[in-house]
Amino acid sequence: MLIKTPLHMKILVTGGAGFIGSHTVVELFKAGYESVILDNFSNSEKAVLDGLKEIIGQETPYYEADINDPAAWDKVFTENKIDGIIHFAANKAVGESVQNPLKYYRNNVAATVLMIEKMQEYGVSNLVFSSSCTVYGEPDSLPVTEQSPIKPANSPYGNTKQICEEIIKDTVATQKGLRAISLRYFNPIGAHETVLIGELPIGVPANLVPFITQTVAGLRGQLSVFGDDYPTRDGTAVRDYIHVVDLAKAHVSALALLIKQGDAPAYYDIFNIGTGTGSSVLEVITAFEKATGLKVDYAIKPRRAGDVTAVYADCTKSNEVLGWKTEKTLEDALGDAWRWQEKVAKR
Ligand code: NAD
Ligand code: WQD
Repeated sequence: MLIKTPLHMKILVTGGAGFIGSHTVVELFKAGYESVILDNFSNSEKAVLDGLKEIIGQETPYYEADINDPAAWDKVFTENKIDGIIHFAANKAVGESVQNPLKYYRNNVAATVLMIEKMQEYGVSNLVFSSSCTVYGEPDSLPVTEQSPIKPANSPYGNTKQICEEIIKDTVATQKGLRAISLRYFNPIGAHETVLIGELPIGVPANLVPFITQTVAGLRGQLSVFGDDYPTRDGTAVRDYIHVVDLAKAHVSALALLIKQGDAPAYYDIFNIGTGTGSSVLEVITAFEKATGLKVDYAIKPRRAGDVTAVYADCTKSNEVLGWKTEKTLEDALGDAWRWQEKVAKR
């Protein structure tokens, strides 16, 4: 049997122009893989491709197409011998998913079904899927392990991640030759250290860190800290914030593990990808101020509907089985997020 090395492997990165996808394309390149991007740029800009080119020194081939379009998959698979897929493309706005659930069930769930059917049709074996810590809801105990119970989703978005995990698990169980890993990301933040790529939130950011950077940049009046009456050390809610580059590297480790399975009859596994440390909203603000020397103007406001008190990861399994661990600190991530914000503001 011909064993391919990463140098000869071509990975399809759906949503590869997005926040996490673009950073993963960089890490794939560094590990010796070739990437092909499939993205419709519905939540990203073509300029990302220029940033990627500057970082890795060459163009990344891309298809501007919709993952819901069967012909797009046919074109990609006919024109390329794809060894694996990292599936980022999805919609991710929790609030929007409540208003427009069918958009989420179509783009996140139906498109994933189509993708797996096309993988079957073209004999593509390896899949890494973007899941989320949102599947744990309000955990009974902390930190959460991969065995912690899955809680009823509190948004259609969260539900799409639970459903896709089930779809992938069930398909692997019956379909010879499909190997898959779901990565449950905690809260990704930051930007590439070159600040040539980063997060591009559209409109008013719902997430904490882009809201902080936009407030400090003068684009938002004041940060609202949603709730200081949670049963946590300072009353504000606790999350596990992970640098996007550390998160990107986890995908390379997951892919390597899938490829190592060779022709194993069935392989499916799930990994938490976080830092293992919870930080409160006030701790994030303090760390931002320390990393940048800048003050964050904030006010305490009522809790935000749907927020959990605290969630952070037990990453023992990803450390041991994937051989992956985080390398960057919260301050690294916040410093990079700020330098990216400054760069974006100048465009
Ligand atoms: P993102 O919006 O920056 O990237 C998603 C990319 O997919 C975008 O470039 C978008 O244009 C593309 N896309 C969306 N629908 C498409 C379609 N129909 N056809 C082709 N391309 C399409 O999001 P991200 O933060 O990079 O998230 C990537 C994945 O990780 C998503 O599946 C998301 O649900 C998951 N995730 C994100 C977070 C987070 O906080 N960012 C946390 C957990 C899980
Ligand atoms: C973090 C903390 C807020 C904004 C969301 C999705 C989740 C996952 C990651 C994809 C919370 C507080 C926020 C603000 C604040 N995405 N906050 N003021 O809610 O943990 O997770 O993104 O899978 O599914 O729900 O992240 O960054 O929105 O909030 O005080 O202006 O910051 O209340 O405690 P969250 P977040």
